[in-house]
Amino acid sequence: MFENGVNTDKIFDGSEKVIGRGAQADVYSFQGYAYKVYRPSYPVEWIGFEKRQQSEINRAGLSPVRYYDTEDPHIVKMDLIEGDTLEKKMLGGFTGGFDLLADMFRKVHRADPSDVQMPRLIDTAGIGLSEEEKNKILPIIERMSSSLENRICHLDMHFLNVMLPKDGSEPVIIDWINSRIAPAVFDYARTYVVLKECAPEVLGLYESAVAADIASLKISDKDFEDAVTVCTVIRNREKNT
Ligand SMILES: Nc1ncnc2c1ncn2[C@@H]1O[C@H](COP(=O)(O)OP(=O)(O)O)[C@@H](O)[C@H]1O
Ligand SMILES: [Mg+2]
Repeated sequence: MFENGVNTDKIFDGSEKVIGRGAQADVYSFQGYAYKVYRPSYPVEWIGFEKRQQSEINRAGLSPVRYYDTEDPHIVKMDLIEGDTLEKKMLGGFTGGFDLLADMFRKVHRADPSDVQMPRLIDTAGIGLSEEEKNKILPIIERMSSSLENRICHLDMHFLNVMLPKDGSEPVIIDWINSRIAPAVFDYARTYVVLKECAPEVLGLYESAVAADIASLKISDKDFEDAVTVCTVIRNREKNT
């Protein structure tokens, strides 16, 4: 069988079930594990990068989900989280989604970044940008990276990247490929930009849920606005690739 154009015969036997679909990969459950099947055009180096990021996040204690190699470089095996995404829970009537997202940010930003091998945002943010875009965002990232504390940031925190295990154990944050060392303001700003694009009607709820944490990090309104400018430029680049 071909899934996403990748031949999955060597791994699947027909009993696999789709559990998630993304822009770059589909995710299946099969024999008690989750499998991420990337499109064949997706560079294998990026998959390698995602695996290294995940293993650093495992070491930092931020996710129990381990990634394993398979015979196919475009297919990654993962520990399966039996449960639903936070989005699905919210669509089913769960009203604590914004507070839970705020908890998830706090958990990530509390972790000790000193021993974690992960690029800094300043080192990768310019990739693929025009000179004009770089001149617009790199000085902002420089400034804030020296004036605010640098933490682990997930940089794609939203309701599809938080899963709630059925057995009632702790929520699990997934999809760490974007994570970088940076001031936490960029994490809050990235989610702001994603929600503004996909669900503008809930922006107010998001802002109320994270306002106190943003204030306690000494992030000014101007810092937040600047971080939104940075994340908008990066987001637009992603959409064009
Ligand atoms: N380890 C896992 N266990 C169960 N479901 C998963 C797992 N990893 C991903 N998923 C499901 O697949 C979806 C897409 O996975 P994700 O890693 O976020 O890929 P993408 O980069 O395409 O967003 C998730 O929103 C979730 O529903
Ligand atoms: Mg995702």
